[in-house]
Amino acid sequence: MSFLKTTESFQAGARTMPGRYYASPDILALEQERVFASHWICVGREGDFAVAGAYRLASVAGESLIVVRDREGQIRAHFNVCRHRGTRLCTESAGTLPETIQCPYHAWTYRLDGRLVGAPHMAGTPGFSMADYPLHAAAVGRWEGFVFVNLAPDPEPVEEAFAPLRHRFARFNLSSLTSVRRIDYEVGANWKLILQNYSECLHCPTIHPELTTKLPYTSGANDLVEGPFLGGYMEIRQPHESATMSGRACAIPLGDLPDEDRARAYYYTLFPGMMLSLHPDYAVWYSVTPRSATASLVTCEWMVHPEAPSQPGYNIADAEEFWDRTNRQDWHICEQSQLGVMSRVYQPGPYSPRESVPAAWDREYLRVMGAQDLAPPRGRAVPDARPAETPA
Ligand code: FES
Ligand SMILES: [Fe+2]
Repeated sequence: MSFLKTTESFQAGARTMPGRYYASPDILALEQERVFASHWICVGREGDFAVAGAYRLASVAGESLIVVRDREGQIRAHFNVCRHRGTRLCTESAGTLPETIQCPYHAWTYRLDGRLVGAPHMAGTPGFSMADYPLHAAAVGRWEGFVFVNLAPDPEPVEEAFAPLRHRFARFNLSSLTSVRRIDYEVGANWKLILQNYSECLHCPTIHPELTTKLPYTSGANDLVEGPFLGGYMEIRQPHESATMSGRACAIPLGDLPDEDRARAYYYTLFPGMMLSLHPDYAVWYSVTPRSATASLVTCEWMVHPEAPSQPGYNIADAEEFWDRTNRQDWHICEQSQLGVMSRVYQPGPYSPRESVPAAWDREYLRVMGAQDLAPPRGRAVPDARPAETPA
């Protein structure tokens, strides 16, 4: 994670955020409401819910959700909270449920669609009707093979929320890609430091010297520079074919890519906590979830063309190792940043023109938080060093 970033939308005077944004439990509580409980949060791929009963637990805005495909084929998200006395229903992070979900406490039993169908000894309770006690539900949406949930009572449809990305990645066939590797990382840093770190490659020569040989940090350009979706591309330095340890492609191309995409890697943040990396031969998606104000869970998953694993030359370990190493370098420096921004002497520092994307990310975050007064000053725009590119 890392990456280029040129200067298209850089606004003079942009500064980093005050230290309390990286350490205050009160700000995290506000984020849980305004950011995580009010946006579409990616909880997996449709392939994770391939059969009826297949489920994953997801942590969203501090809530545990059971995301499951029901018997009718619909993917649902239930709060992991019994309607009797509130007990957690599921504790295993993923698996396959039978016909029903049964509470381990007094055996209230729910269908996979959330309806309560068993409640021992409740018949004598005046006015009790099982129909009044389905599991609490969250909205479920899909985009490009990803499954999202939204805790808002009446959320904006996912298609509208993702409208700025419509058709942008069509050539990469995201919806049909298959997930082949997954790593969970516990990182001792506020979730925003991880998103900001992913959004610039100013740090690449110092933090990732070997990555820089394949992805020159001054190459490429940003093509999404304001709003909830931000990022752009870097060029893969010839004769390398991809961002892998060997420099060779590790799988067949994700799609029918034009020549220019065969020598590019695209990196985007999708507000709030999703990151998406596209290479000619594989993609990686990340989700960043706060554990506390000062710690985060990062889930990282590698995806390839569904036919890639059976093709000659397939070697996803080559890409996995490349990013596992790079990720760990990033997590380490984020943890060092965390320590520094908690210091009594830390004050917001100036962003450089090569940090235009993290500065834009901060603006979007502060807008969502309703903290415009704290946003970096909107000075005059600095002329770009190079033109913004429009994706094919
Ligand atoms: S708390 Fe779930 S059945 Fe009693
Ligand atoms: Fe990095």
